[in-house]
Amino acid sequence: MKVYITRKIPQKAIDFLKEKKYSVSVYKEDKPVPRKELIKHIRNADAVIPLLTDNIDKEIIAQMKICRVIANYAVGFDNIDVKYAASRNIIVTNTPGVLTDSTADLTISLALSCARRLPEAEKLLRDGKYTHWKPDLLLGIELKGKIFGILGAGRIGTATAVRAKAFGCKIIYFSRSQNKLLEKRTGAKKVSLNTLLKNSDFLSVHLTSSSETFHFIGRKELSLLKKTSVFINTSRGEIVDEKELIKILKKNKIRAAGLDVFENELNINKELLILNNVVLLPHIGSATQKARTEMAMIAARNVAAVLSGKKPLTEVKL
Ligand code: GLV
Ligand code: GLV
Repeated sequence: MKVYITRKIPQKAIDFLKEKKYSVSVYKEDKPVPRKELIKHIRNADAVIPLLTDNIDKEIIAQMKICRVIANYAVGFDNIDVKYAASRNIIVTNTPGVLTDSTADLTISLALSCARRLPEAEKLLRDGKYTHWKPDLLLGIELKGKIFGILGAGRIGTATAVRAKAFGCKIIYFSRSQNKLLEKRTGAKKVSLNTLLKNSDFLSVHLTSSSETFHFIGRKELSLLKKTSVFINTSRGEIVDEKELIKILKKNKIRAAGLDVFENELNINKELLILNNVVLLPHIGSATQKARTEMAMIAARNVAAVLSGKKPLTEVKL
């Protein structure tokens, strides 16, 4: 049976699939697979492991003749038309859990970087402008005593809250359902969306991206943020109306934004690049060796399970 992988992923997972006697084919170049090439390979594949950069839409899925499983190499699955895959009896899986800590670590890194203006500080030094220590050089804020707002209390939101709590923050959250574990571990309080937006000193987005959450944070929501607040997004760019976010950053209507994700990641809005009050990262939430290896192994195990007639480990259910 044939497994097509759209990019070189950690070798351990490729070896695992080869040991199971699957014929594994990997797109070799260091860039997203071109659509034509993708179509050519998925036609006769029994399983596909795509990246979050591959748009596995209706047109692509319709060309899959024998595919039984699309094992996304990501926890997010907004790059896949899951509903259409289900209508064709193709199972979709993702990689939850294994990137929770890496992403929560990065979220707190962004909070701290914004609070202490790390990129500005480092640039000043590299530019040769650090001539002497002074009392008012690059003053920032502390986390202790601040209100840390979590939007979307899933695994990553919860792990972020636990870290923020350790820094002495008070946690509030908005989520579809109550998260008792989060409340127990951090003393967090569930509040309305408006209360979350109006009160958070740090607001961190941890929603799943879908048509329902597209621009969930728009002009109105952003207008409720405090002038002193820090906005953080390590989930998906589409959840925030980026143009509106840029507008309030330009007018200094919030303190700063820390972003690991963008609306158009292949062509990041140039206006962001010239702002001083942002910290910008190239979607590295899960970029630790441990997380990336485990993501690959979960994807490979999901493939092996489905192809051998067993239940997948982590199926995406709509
Ligand atoms: C990363 O963004 C992921 O969804 O795994
Ligand atoms: C999924 O979105 C997670 O929080 O791990």
